[in-house]
Amino acid sequence: MRPQFEPRRGSERMTIIKLFDNLTHREPVIALWEAIFGYETAHNSPGLVIDKKIAINDELFFVALLDAEVVGTTMAGYDGHRGWIYSVAVHPGHRKQGIGTSLVSHAERALIERGCVKINLQIAQGNESVAAFYSSLGYAEEKRVSMGKRIDENSSISSFSPDTNG
Ligand SMILES: CC(C)(COP(=O)(O)OP(=O)(O)OC[C@H]1O[C@@H](n2cnc3c(N)ncnc32)[C@H](O)[C@@H]1OP(=O)(O)O)[C@@H](O)C(=O)NCCC(=O)NCCS
Repeated sequence: MRPQFEPRRGSERMTIIKLFDNLTHREPVIALWEAIFGYETAHNSPGLVIDKKIAINDELFFVALLDAEVVGTTMAGYDGHRGWIYSVAVHPGHRKQGIGTSLVSHAERALIERGCVKINLQIAQGNESVAAFYSSLGYAEEKRVSMGKRIDENSSISSFSPDTNG
C-alpha cells in the first residue's frame, strides 16, 4: 500500500501512515508500547512481538508518523478467514486528533485488499471505555467468550531467532 496522508484536525501538519520499518521505527515503537500497554507476559514483550511480525513479512504493521516522529501504531493479521486488528496505540500527546481513526482505517483497507470479509478485535478487561472509539468506526460488540492458549516454547525471546524463522 502507498503511504496514506491524513490531515490532522486543526493543524497544518500531516500525519503519514506507513509500513513499519525495523531500522527506523523499532526503538520508538517499543518505547510507545511500553508507555501505553502494560507488559506482564514474555510473549507480549515488544521486541518479540516485532521480531515475529516482521519475520512473516505480511506488510500488516503500520506506524503513524508526524514529522518523522512515531506517534501511533497498529498491526493487523489475516488468516484467510478473519482479519484481526491489534496494537492500536496513539501517543497520549497526540490523541483525539483522528490519528487512531487513520490507523484503523489504513489497517482495514489493507485487510479488505486481501479479501477479508470480517474484522475482529479484542479489548482487554479494564479497558472497556475504548469501545466508544471502535463504535465510532463501525465496530459492534459481539457476545463471545474469548479464550487463548499460550505456547510456552515460542514465548520467550531466546526461543526465537528471526534469521532462522524468517
Ligand atoms: C484508543 C486510541 C488509539 C484512540 O486514538 P485517537 O487518536 O485519540 O482516536 P481518534 O482521535 O481517531 O478518535 C476517534 C473517535 O473516538 C473517540 N475516542 C478516542 N479515544 C477514545 C477513548 N479512549 N474512549 C472513548 N472514546 C474515544 C474520539 O473522541 C473520537 O470521536 P470524535 O471524532 O467524535 O471526536 C488512543 O486513545 C490510545 O492509544 N489509547 C490507549 C491504547 C488503547 O487502549 N488501545 C486500544 C486497545 S484495544
